[in-house]
Amino acid sequence: MKIGILGAGSWGSALANLLAYNGHEVTIWSIDQKEIEMLREFHEQKDRLPGVILNTSIAYTTDLETSVTDKEMIVCAVPSPFVRGTAVKIAPYIKEGQLIVNVSKGIEEATLKALVEVIEEEIPVANVAVLSGPSHAEEVGRFIPTTVVAGARNIETAKIIQNAFMNERFRVYTSTDVTGIELGGSVKNVIALAAGMSDGLGCGDNTKAALMTRGMAEIMRLGLAMGAKVETLSGLSGMGDLIVTCTSRHSRNRNAGYLIGQGKTYEEAMEEVKMIVEGVYSAKAAKILAEKYNVDMPIVDAVNGVLFDGKSAKDAMFQLLTRDRKAEV
Ligand SMILES: NC(=O)c1ccc[n+]([C@@H]2O[C@H](COP(=O)([O-])OP(=O)(O)OC[C@H]3O[C@@H](n4cnc5c(N)ncnc54)[C@H](O)[C@@H]3O)[C@@H](O)[C@H]2O)c1
Repeated sequence: MKIGILGAGSWGSALANLLAYNGHEVTIWSIDQKEIEMLREFHEQKDRLPGVILNTSIAYTTDLETSVTDKEMIVCAVPSPFVRGTAVKIAPYIKEGQLIVNVSKGIEEATLKALVEVIEEEIPVANVAVLSGPSHAEEVGRFIPTTVVAGARNIETAKIIQNAFMNERFRVYTSTDVTGIELGGSVKNVIALAAGMSDGLGCGDNTKAALMTRGMAEIMRLGLAMGAKVETLSGLSGMGDLIVTCTSRHSRNRNAGYLIGQGKTYEEAMEEVKMIVEGVYSAKAAKILAEKYNVDMPIVDAVNGVLFDGKSAKDAMFQLLTRDRKAEV
C-alpha cells in the first residue's frame, strides 16, 4: 500500500518503520523542517526515538498535500492537541472513502469528542478508524512483540488495517467498538498520572495495584455509560494499555506523575519529560464526561485536584483513602 504518516514523533516514526518493513511505500510528514532534515540525513528520530534506525525506503516531506494525495491509508500520529488542526489542513486533499487511521490518544477538551470523531467532523468524506493498544514506540521500533486492536465501525475496514500492520512481531486484532477503544486509550493516561504520583510519593506496589484496579473500575463505569463494550474496556486497548502505561519506564504520563508526586507542577513535569503529557488534557475532559454521564470517578477527580486546583499529591491520596466505606462491586 501507499501510506502517508502524519507526525514524525516517536509513534509516527516507529509505525513508519513497521509499515516499511511490511513492504509498504511509506511517506512521513512533519510540520517541522528540521525534524525532516534530521530524518532524511540520519534515518533516525534522534530526539524522540534514539537508537532505532528507520527503514531506508521511507520518504520524508513537509508538504501535507504530497503526504496524503493518492495514499491508500493515512495514519494520523500527531499529538492529540494537534489532531483537529491537522485534519482541517488535509481536508481539501482527501478523496471520498479515503482511509485515515487515528493512532493518537485523547479526548478533545473543548468538545469532549474522541479523535476519530474529531477527524470525521473535519473530513466527512473520509473513512476514519483507530489503532490502539499497549504499544510503546521504543519497543515497537525494536520489533519487540506487541499486540493492538484495529477498530472501525465497518469490520472490513478494520481488516484492511489489520492486514497492513500485522507481522510476526506485531499482532493486530479487529473490533467495531471504536468508542470503547478510544475511551480506554485516553482515560488510562489520567490513571497513569495517578500511578506515577503514587510512585513519586514513595507509595508501594500495593498502592499502584489499587489505583490501576479502581482506575479500571472508573473507566468501565464511564465507558459503559457511553455505550462502549465491556470486552473492549477489559481488552488490549483498555486494561492492556492501562497496565503498560501505569508501569512502564517509557510512559510519559507515569513519569510526569512521578515528578508531580515529588512536588513539581504539571508544567514543570511536562518541561522535564520534554513531551506533551496527554493525560493532563484528558483529565479535564474525563471529569466533565463523568459529570455529564453522572458516574463516580474519584481518581480522575483527585488527579484534576492536583493538576488544576493546587492540591498536593499527598492530600489527593488522603482524600481517596478516606472516602466513604463502600462495597467493591
Ligand atoms: N509514543 C508512543 O509510544 C505512542 C504509542 C501509542 C500511541 N501514541 C500516541 O501517538 C501520538 C503521538 O505521540 P508521539 O509519542 O509520537 O509524540 P511525540 O511527542 O514524539 O510527537 C511529537 C511530534 O508531533 C509533531 N508535531 C509537533 N507539533 C505539531 C503541530 N503543531 N502540528 C502537527 N504536528 C506536530 C512533530 O512531528 C513532533 O515530532 C499521541 O497521541 C500518543 O498518545 C504514542
